[in-house]
Amino acid sequence: DNQPLVLGIESSCDETAAALVRADGAIVAQIIASQDEHHAPFGGVVPEIAARAHVEVLAPMVGRVLADAGMTLADVDAIAATAGPGLIGGVMVGLVTAKALSLASGKPLIAVNHLEGHALSPRLADRELEFPYLLLLASGGHCQILEVRGVGEYRRLATTIDDALGEAFDKTAKILGLGYPGGPAVERLAKEGDPDAVPLPRPLKGSAEPHFSFAGLKSAVMRAHDSGQYAAADIAASFQQAAMDCVIDRTAGALAVANDVKALVVAGGVAANQRLRGALEDMAQRHGLAFAAPPMKLCTDNAAMIAWAGQERLAAGLVEEGGDPLSISARPRWPL
Ligand code: KG4
Ligand code: ZN
Repeated sequence: DNQPLVLGIESSCDETAAALVRADGAIVAQIIASQDEHHAPFGGVVPEIAARAHVEVLAPMVGRVLADAGMTLADVDAIAATAGPGLIGGVMVGLVTAKALSLASGKPLIAVNHLEGHALSPRLADRELEFPYLLLLASGGHCQILEVRGVGEYRRLATTIDDALGEAFDKTAKILGLGYPGGPAVERLAKEGDPDAVPLPRPLKGSAEPHFSFAGLKSAVMRAHDSGQYAAADIAASFQQAAMDCVIDRTAGALAVANDVKALVVAGGVAANQRLRGALEDMAQRHGLAFAAPPMKLCTDNAAMIAWAGQERLAAGLVEEGGDPLSISARPRWPL
């Protein structure tokens, strides 16, 4: 059929991904390569290792995605690539690859803000989801609450002043010797522990300031562990409880100041956490809002959400015709 088709490229952190997404939201083909095994020995993402791994896999991956769909670049209407924010080496690998493809094919290049990819991914998962909605975006690199009012219309209500929520899970896992990525391991161990066993702080809970802070919680986890007084499962459970208390408090505060949102949505890797999903779903119900959480494959970093953001930008008339792909630059910081 002749629906517009966008090739998406993502390489801003530790996932290399390419995808083909049609204007109706059909994901025609996609591949995601995780670099977890490269970074696991270091307990976190090492930027230089990440950039090199993107270089090795991205170009062949684009070829494979097109081949999987039985297509060539000629069938693609536009190329969307993450242009930031993220680890600059990785962003550059994806953007330079996209520029080359754009120049070679004459197809427009759409520079996508990675956060916009996450912010619009719930609409790729659920084509009925309407603007505006409140989005909690919680991953290893981001922790924000956004009022998503439309394509390119985002009001940031909260961000983290230090660590991201997933980062706090990862650091706790590292302290407890659970490996990387730590979120799933902490959640698993927490099931065997007592969430009230270890007294831990709830940074910023109840404060008028809308933001998140997890650094103090992490330090308290470290002290609890070093004291030798507590079982690892009790620390994991108490940490998770404290982190959830903060997130719920912050999200409730954001809901109170949000303008007529229709749904509460959670995305990002931490959306895999069952406690978090349950607590947010309850909150949505209490406020008479719909609740949505995209499937995990769309919650964690992927290229389908980048291609989809490209589609949304095309549909909204936000892609300038005849733009010069070479004029786009990679941005390590790029607030929505
Ligand atoms: O979105 P994502 O795949 O990558 C980025 O960081 O952008 O998110 C990964 C993060 C990691 O910090 C990981 O520990 C966390 O999401 N995570 C979880 C869970 N699954 C993944 N955190 C808490 N509970 C989980 N079940
Ligand atoms: Zn992300």
